[in-house]
Amino acid sequence: MFRAPWPRSVVGVAKERPKTPRARLFVALDLPEEMREEIVAWGREALVDPALRPVTPESLHLTLAFLGHRPEREIEAIAAVVRECAGPAPWVELLEPAQRPTRGRAQVYALPALSPGAEMLQAGLAHRLEEAGFYEPEKRAFWPHVTVARVRPEARGSRRPAVVSEPPGKLPERLLEARICRRMTLYRSELQSTGARYVPLAQVQLPG
Ligand code: 2AM
Repeated sequence: MFRAPWPRSVVGVAKERPKTPRARLFVALDLPEEMREEIVAWGREALVDPALRPVTPESLHLTLAFLGHRPEREIEAIAAVVRECAGPAPWVELLEPAQRPTRGRAQVYALPALSPGAEMLQAGLAHRLEEAGFYEPEKRAFWPHVTVARVRPEARGSRRPAVVSEPPGKLPERLLEARICRRMTLYRSELQSTGARYVPLAQVQLPG
């Protein structure tokens, strides 16, 4: 008697409809080029602990809304909402590095940001994206920040972050000055073995 060389359940998989292709999306306020360069220059001396994985220059941004995995067919409509939400270009003032979580071992280091303009953009964006069914607002309050380093796991496969004995030091005076941010971008985050790569899908110039 003929016997399928694999169990019935596996044979069944072939009949299932292919999964909807999805993209991991987020909207961010881009930092001016020279601000990113200054952060990178600071990081060369400040993010030296071997447990730290500094964020690459092209990935330095201030996240406004993280949408998670969305069907790819929604991308155009999401980009349209993002364009519609363009408000005045906000001023952003960076603060000294802070760890998250605030207690215990750090998982990430970020530069918190003071920016009423970015908060307004975020609120408008969150409202319109939610109304359109593309976004579920986070329960925690919006924390404007620029992530500058993630902490490597203490061992391969472990979820526990390694100990950082030399946390990032202070920012130079120049980086504490407020800067204007003139672009908002819808990004696709592609997870790779070397970390995430952020691909811009739609960019909006902010007036003002
Ligand atoms: P972070 O800078 O605090 O890590 C892509 O992952 C971007 O979306 C990152 O800048 C990340 O912020 C942000 N983000 C916000 N909420 C997230 C979540 N729940 N999971 C992953 N990334 C999130």
